[in-house]
Amino acid sequence: MILVTGGAGFIGSNFVLDWLAQSDEPVINLDALTYAGNRANLASLDGDARHVFVHGDIGERALVDQLLATHRPRAIVHFAAESHVDRSIHGPGAFMKTNVEGTFTLLEAARGFWNTLDGADKAAFRFHHVSTDEVYGSLKPTDPPFAETNAYEPNSPYSASKAASDHLVRAWHHTYGLPVLTTNCSNNYGPLHFPEKLIPLMIVNALAGKPLPVYGDGQQIRDWLYVKDHCSGIRAVLAGGRVGETYNIGGWNEMANIDIVKTVCALLDELRPDPAGPYARLITYVTDRPGHDRRYAIDARKIERELGWRPAETFATGIRKTVQWYLDNAAWVADVQSGAYKDWIGTNYSAR
Ligand code: NAD
Ligand code: TYD
Repeated sequence: MILVTGGAGFIGSNFVLDWLAQSDEPVINLDALTYAGNRANLASLDGDARHVFVHGDIGERALVDQLLATHRPRAIVHFAAESHVDRSIHGPGAFMKTNVEGTFTLLEAARGFWNTLDGADKAAFRFHHVSTDEVYGSLKPTDPPFAETNAYEPNSPYSASKAASDHLVRAWHHTYGLPVLTTNCSNNYGPLHFPEKLIPLMIVNALAGKPLPVYGDGQQIRDWLYVKDHCSGIRAVLAGGRVGETYNIGGWNEMANIDIVKTVCALLDELRPDPAGPYARLITYVTDRPGHDRRYAIDARKIERELGWRPAETFATGIRKTVQWYLDNAAWVADVQSGAYKDWIGTNYSAR
């Protein structure tokens, strides 16, 4: 079996659902259920003996030790993190706690467990760290996309905390020999995405007739990848990646934010027309994010060359599936827009 951390969040829950759709290898899912964690994402696994959900924090060493000793996983796939840049600007402490200290605790627990293994089990064990392209900083318009050899230049509290965690993972391999893998992925989108991030926020705001807040001039570029392609990339690296290596995962799909928002509006105009007029009428430029990175783009040739991985979805196919998913899952959307969600929207947007 494998131990997944953060498997009730956006990417982690997609990963667990895809994993169990494709194999019968059980998953222990350790998640603290912060505002971003949602048991409803995993509702289809209720009663499925292959999925064991554990409500707990990666920073609780005794709990992690006990889970490892009891279940003896062959791998840890580590998604658990604070993940939203704007929240890291308003409150960086939680990012240091989970992303840096939590990863440290998990690495120490993994090292302790790995040292109890021997022979083939010890050789086969993997600690797979899921990270972001944001650790590389911001590209100029003519720069080549991020390769695995780029220097780390994190600019936000979020990306600095993820960069720190990447460094810890690297060091635990070089110093202690822990068999690690790291993947650095570009911006994901797809089902189960919490509506604080750009694409789901635009969908839910548009459907509610609310303004679509575009930061600054809207010309910031991200390299968007459908979440299930990220999950297949992680599976490929876990299965065949070289120990101690990092692999960049991306969609070969650079787009400016304003074009993303216009694409979402056009799809909604087609799929759920608003009698009040085109959704693009709701686009509202607002004060920029402090320290806003201008451009991210991933050079995903290494994972393709070594492991034969390519994204299956184009942006056109992935964004259509995503918008349709939000239209079909109004109850999920209503459920996540709790009081805490409304508080965050007030905190982030009222003064912009
Ligand atoms: P998310 O915020 O949707 O989910 C994070 C999950 O981790 C939640 O279920 C939360 O409850 C859990 N969690 C948080 N702190 C925890 C703790 N201390 N102990 C146990 N569980 C805890 O995040 P996501 O978008 O699914 O991202 C998952 C991972 O992928 C993160 O490590 C993130 O840095 C990375 N990543 C995300 C993207 C993206 O576009 N979303 C892109 C590249 C990499
Ligand atoms: P986000 O989804 O928060 O991901 P990240 O900051 O990790 O790339 O934001 C994606 C882009 O969209 C980023 O350039 C910031 C921008 N953005 C807006 O313009 N308006 C918004 O309301 C949000 C949440 C993001």
